[in-house]
Amino acid sequence: MIKDILHEKAEETQEKHVPHIAIDGTKVTVSCGKDIMHPSTKDHFIGWMKLYTVDNNGRTLEVGSSEPTASLAQPVACFTLTSVDNIKKLMAVIYCNIHGIWENELEL
Ligand SMILES: [Fe+2]
Repeated sequence: MIKDILHEKAEETQEKHVPHIAIDGTKVTVSCGKDIMHPSTKDHFIGWMKLYTVDNNGRTLEVGSSEPTASLAQPVACFTLTSVDNIKKLMAVIYCNIHGIWENELEL
C-alpha cells in the first residue's frame, strides 16, 4: 500500500519535504517547503508533485502533476480548479529523489 511508503509530518527533518498547499478561490499552489524551500540541484531535487481532490462522496481524483526541472525550477506548482463546490479536501504528494514520498492534506 502507498501508505506504507509515505512519510509523515512527524518525520520532517531540516530539509523541508511536507508539501505546503495554499488556495485562493480556485487557484491552488503546492510548494515543497513554505518558509524554507527544498533544494533544487542536480543531486537533490523534487522529481514530481501531484495534486488530488477528495469530493464530498469520498472520491479521490488527480488534478494534475508537475515535474520541476532539477537545478532550474523551484518545487512550486500552480493549478486552477474549475470549482471547489463539491470538494472536501485537497491532497498533495511529492517525490524527493533522496528522501522519498511525502504528502499533506488541506481540509476545505
Ligand atoms: Fe529531499
